[in-house]
Amino acid sequence: MKPFIVVVGSSNTDMVVKAGRLPAPGETVLGGTFMMNAGGKGANQAVAAARLGGNVVFIAKTGKDIFGKQAIELFKQEGIDPGYIIPDAENPSGIALITVDDNGENCIVVASGANAALKPADLQKAKHLIENAALLLIQLEIPIETVEYAVTLAAENGIKVVLNPAPACTLSDELLQKISIITPNETEAGLLSGTKVINKESAETAARLLAAKGIKTVIITMGAEGALLLHDGVCHFFEAPVCNAIDTTAAGDVFNGALAVALFSGKSILEAVPFAIRAASISVGRMGAQSSAPYLHELNAF
Ligand code: RIB
Repeated sequence: MKPFIVVVGSSNTDMVVKAGRLPAPGETVLGGTFMMNAGGKGANQAVAAARLGGNVVFIAKTGKDIFGKQAIELFKQEGIDPGYIIPDAENPSGIALITVDDNGENCIVVASGANAALKPADLQKAKHLIENAALLLIQLEIPIETVEYAVTLAAENGIKVVLNPAPACTLSDELLQKISIITPNETEAGLLSGTKVINKESAETAARLLAAKGIKTVIITMGAEGALLLHDGVCHFFEAPVCNAIDTTAAGDVFNGALAVALFSGKSILEAVPFAIRAASISVGRMGAQSSAPYLHELNAF
């Protein structure tokens, strides 16, 4: 087994307010207490993987401001080496403005800041790590040229690539062909496949369309329902346990971090998906992004 999971992606500070409901355009709603949490899809996935026992290398870019400094301190506390977090003197750290409603649903606006300045040249220091990883886990909150560079580097070296295609964005067939496992939610699967995902049947249709583009394994996450897996042409559906959703922010990130750890530790894909669903189910019962990711002992006790 190769010794580490490489995560390339974003790091944000989340500015969160919980409100009874999400505001309509032009509307002001009064919310509850303001919270400032560690977030960013890349960082959330890296922390989720580290908490579940993964040996994680996280490559990201943060500003030289208080938010970047805080993020680095938190990575250290999670056992993630901050040596691959590149300081950016020109841009502020990424910030996300998040509203969470009473059902745990959220809306998010991201000011990417330094994340948008993470360029292929920034990956040079960690090139040998990507080339020798157990797997590469990557999302779309950084420039697409950087995603393409990292994915190509990994694929050329026979490294398994897990792409969480979030936030939703169209992707070239050339990039998709290099992906081993893709993990869209319903919206992202709809955009990438060109077919709307509203139930298990349409999810299977979308998964088969994505597989036809050359992706070996497609996992469509479907929130409280669970996840659909299409692997080697065979479709499986995994139910999620019933749980009381407090905050669904980063549930997908926890799913991806957990999936990576499960595969890293030698679980089959049929074992890895329910493992990841259990981790995500725990996270939705807690507020915050990284703060909601479970530790391995919590997952084992779930
Ligand atoms: O996936 C959730 C994350 O999206 C939040 O932590 C926020 O920072 C945005 O990146």
